[in-house]
Amino acid sequence: MAMSWAPDSWTKAEARQLPDYPDTGALAAATHRLATFPPLVFAGEARNLTADLAKVAEGKAFLLQGGDCAESFAEFHANNIRDTFRVILQMAVVLTFASKLPVVKVGRMAGQFAKPRSTPTEVVDGVELPSYRGDNVNDIAFTPESRLPDPERMVRAYAQSAATLNLLRAFAQGGYANLHQVHRWTHDFMGRSPWAKKYAETADRIGEALDFMEACGISPDTVPQLSQTTFYTSHEALLLPFEQALTRQDSLTGDWYDTSAHFLWIGDRTRFEGSAHVEFLRGIGNPIGVKCGPSLDPDALLRMLDTLNPGRVPGRMTLITRYGYDKIEAHLPRLVRAVTREGHSVVWSCDPMHGNTVKAASGYKTRPFDRILAEVRGFFAVHRAEGTHAGGIHAEMTGQNVTECTGGAIDVTEQSLADRYHTHCDPRLNAGQSLELAFLLAEMLNAEMAERRKAA
Ligand code: PEP
Ligand code: CO
Repeated sequence: MAMSWAPDSWTKAEARQLPDYPDTGALAAATHRLATFPPLVFAGEARNLTADLAKVAEGKAFLLQGGDCAESFAEFHANNIRDTFRVILQMAVVLTFASKLPVVKVGRMAGQFAKPRSTPTEVVDGVELPSYRGDNVNDIAFTPESRLPDPERMVRAYAQSAATLNLLRAFAQGGYANLHQVHRWTHDFMGRSPWAKKYAETADRIGEALDFMEACGISPDTVPQLSQTTFYTSHEALLLPFEQALTRQDSLTGDWYDTSAHFLWIGDRTRFEGSAHVEFLRGIGNPIGVKCGPSLDPDALLRMLDTLNPGRVPGRMTLITRYGYDKIEAHLPRLVRAVTREGHSVVWSCDPMHGNTVKAASGYKTRPFDRILAEVRGFFAVHRAEGTHAGGIHAEMTGQNVTECTGGAIDVTEQSLADRYHTHCDPRLNAGQSLELAFLLAEMLNAEMAERRKAA
């Protein structure tokens, strides 16, 4: 393996899933401009996230990562950002209470635009056009002009990411994350959920704990930590010309960081050996994720860990497994055993979305909620059996009341998918389904913690 690395060394490796820009002059102009723009995040923040994730790897915290499959220019609105942020906070409160562990919150937000596709082209009514690759590459409308990759879209994506991040930072620090308020929202939701009885006990106990703290003088007025939170951003590092343009040398350490987000991950389709995406990510100081699907064998994973984290920095690597509800228990143990045997410290996170996509009779891509929950149960069962920490969840979700995944307490049926199917790519959990997922996770984490106490 070549040891020297530069932000553009990926250009000498095999790059899959990148657009072919017809106008290379326009591409160069756009990336040169991006390279002069301010970083979106600061290297020190990425290092803080690495430290937080090291605690997750040790079993002393839990990772909650979620947001859109694909952000879009059309759905860019303060209310959408606010609502997704709010549901993530609600989930985090439920999880913190159940596990008594800090929850590290990471949005698939402020930069999650580029999408890998299973085929380079799409055929509709006999017409073949390039696939839609995310709003920072081309437009979703099915016309030849729309599907042409346009490098100027990267500049627009940068601007939207900056505005989104600005609002997220304001919400996180400006009082919107007030713990009492977050609990009140959950309480309101509970009142409307047909499954309320099932979750009422947890919700009531959170309320009691807050009342008790307030009586002791611990309130958002006296303890700022109760009204503020730390929120990180992440996306798939797919569109390498964009990521390279945002990669800067940290003035404090001299190390390279991709300043487009705190956390970047490699998708299941671009993590193969010799991949340009692996080459790019090995050189940046940010914490990084690797999507692990059924085709990844343990030896290939170990080689990848050596490439991406030769210094074995704790918190640097998050392995995001995405097998499908019926495959996880067959595949995951082999990976866990190999990684444990070689002594790598990693965060194990469960993406219960991407292995559970099905096509409804109506043609909509959907994900049955019970299969999503079944994969989460399988994930916890495997880690319990292997003695490792079920460290995190990675979900495609939104704060909107969409109808994209079937099932849940307020049952989304195959017939109702058309009502509010807004996603630009994969089906997301809606606000109610996301909270229900959090209550299930809370149960599982609670059991893991009880087992640990027994063993101690
Ligand atoms: C995604 O997270 O949107 C994605 C494409 O996932 P994967 O690479 O796991 O298929
Ligand atoms: Co997706």
